[in-house]
Amino acid sequence: MNNVGDMMNDATDIQAEPRADTPAPTTDTLKMTARNVDVFYGAKQAIDNVSIDIGMENVTAFIGPSGCGKSTFLRCLNRMNDTIPIARVTGQIELDEHDIYDPSMDVVQLRARVGMVFQKPNPFPKSIFENVAYGPRIHGLATSKAELDEIVEKSLIRAGLFEEVKDRLNDSGTALSGGQQQRLCIARAIAVDPEVILMDEPCSALDPIATAKIEELINDLRGKYAIVIVTHNMQQAARVSQRTAFFHLGTLVEYGETSDLFTNPSQDRTKDYITGRYG
Ligand SMILES: Nc1ncnc2c1ncn2[C@@H]1O[C@H](COP(=O)(O)OP(=O)(O)O)[C@@H](O)[C@H]1O
Ligand SMILES: [Mg+2]
Repeated sequence: MNNVGDMMNDATDIQAEPRADTPAPTTDTLKMTARNVDVFYGAKQAIDNVSIDIGMENVTAFIGPSGCGKSTFLRCLNRMNDTIPIARVTGQIELDEHDIYDPSMDVVQLRARVGMVFQKPNPFPKSIFENVAYGPRIHGLATSKAELDEIVEKSLIRAGLFEEVKDRLNDSGTALSGGQQQRLCIARAIAVDPEVILMDEPCSALDPIATAKIEELINDLRGKYAIVIVTHNMQQAARVSQRTAFFHLGTLVEYGETSDLFTNPSQDRTKDYITGRYG
């Protein structure tokens, strides 16, 4: 696709000279931008000069072999790396043109705006209701019990779980099946009205049917939230995303439209990966 390269040249505010293999901006409304991001764990560099634009309307997939830095980079986007003492992040990351690493940024607020769903479903050891109500309660999003009930119900509906749990909202969230637990975690993220949802291999612990449900859900949520999904499953990336970023050894090798990247990659390393030469 020609205009991807053209848009790259148009990209403003890129401080360092963009390399040939750095990102093409998405064509949709910009939600997040990363520029020249490095991440170190102690002396070891895990992310090397990554710049990427995350759009609002499309689902963005991060793919690449295990250990290439997908999770590390994803965690930069809502400052989850702050919780890892030896991790150090440099470069610039903006959400709606505001630097999320600015000292004035409220990290708790940021993580509500940029929610996260993890590889292993991790509901709180609380009721289904409380799992979803917890965030709205600490963020003061409801002024009455009725309002809180409504937020919980809406979030569960949106996460495609309500019908399955509506008669047992007081049962423990941890008693649900893996797929239901993952949708509960998505409902929990949705409940605080996020703008971006980050998913780190959300289906890797699920069976194919539960996986299909999550993929369907991602399609339903597309456009309502900016969605970034890490997956080591290329078929999944092809099914759920419109933009794909290929990472290798801590660098962003190629970023473009999913259909282009899988059918006509511009970089040899991408081609080798998608044809299964390594992974
Ligand atoms: N908490 C951590 N402490 C030290 N090194 C880490 C930590 N997390 C990840 N790494 C290292 O950073 C690199 C990238 O890891 P990761 O982001 O988990 O890759 P991916 O998600 O693509 O599998 C790997 O070399 C990994 O060992
Ligand atoms: Mg990972």
